[in-house]
Amino acid sequence: MPDQLVYPLFLVDGTGIKIEVPSLPGNYRWSLDLLLGEIQEAVDLGIKSFILFPAIPEEHKDKTATYSYDENNFYLKAATKIKGRFPQVCLISDVAMDPYNVDGHDGLVGEGKVLNDETLPILAKMSIAQAKAGFDVLGPSDMMDGRIAYIRQALDEAGYVDTGIMAYTAKYASAFYGPFRDALDSAPVEGEDIPKDKKTYQMDPANKKEALREAMLDYEEGADFMMVKPALNYLDVIHILNENFDIPIAAYHVSGECAMLAAACKNGWLEFDKAMPETLLSIHRAGAQVILTYFAKDYAKWFRRQF
Ligand code: PBG
Repeated sequence: MPDQLVYPLFLVDGTGIKIEVPSLPGNYRWSLDLLLGEIQEAVDLGIKSFILFPAIPEEHKDKTATYSYDENNFYLKAATKIKGRFPQVCLISDVAMDPYNVDGHDGLVGEGKVLNDETLPILAKMSIAQAKAGFDVLGPSDMMDGRIAYIRQALDEAGYVDTGIMAYTAKYASAFYGPFRDALDSAPVEGEDIPKDKKTYQMDPANKKEALREAMLDYEEGADFMMVKPALNYLDVIHILNENFDIPIAAYHVSGECAMLAAACKNGWLEFDKAMPETLLSIHRAGAQVILTYFAKDYAKWFRRQF
């Protein structure tokens, strides 16, 4: 059902901007003024949830992601405007340092590593700023250990007891995030003291038991729902989490997975109107009650045509 989908949106600063992401046809980097129209269109199609990602200009990036909790941050201001205009939608944030970080990593880089514990206070500041801006649910995509409990406590202490947390519980170090990193220019930067990939904090694709362990931790630390990412190559992981936990399981049908299907359809090798709903159905069948997908609007339009 369209109301179980979450539509990911890329936000840039400025006005009058709508630039297509080349590797993700039909998806754009939007400035807020035009994004409001896109959200209206999606709402009219029956979509109720959105996850917002910012593309941050280089001049705002530093080693400690200070812009992520700056009062003038356009991403935070946009959230307030979106919730003002559409109070009924569920607006989800992205909690991670990579959009704001000169290194392009989700955590603080020091001594050639990503420093887990030193990253947590930064994530907490970012989370409080996002809750204050009006986000309904926060989405820690950073994968630092212990962050759910740390963020939950910081939110509660700041009075944001009703702000939810969607934990990226089983986020694999996947090859399928490429188009997203293109959209946000957020790939890890090359440099001598900078780890070249995210494998020290994202999970090993070979590992299934670790997903259960991570889920146990996120569950106990206070996650309101838990996500598996990517979705299609990890349907078994979605299934196992759904079998073992009594909170909703979400799956992120990531940029590369959508791009693959879109490219095959563009070539005439697959039929979009059949392959797209079958794909989303398989993710749902595996056990995901919530699906984040760049095809949210396409699915909602297809769904309408069925009646
Ligand atoms: C990083 C983040 C990524 C995605 C969402 N949040 C990419 C990464 O780990 O580099 C990918 C989503 C997608 O590919 O659609 N905080």
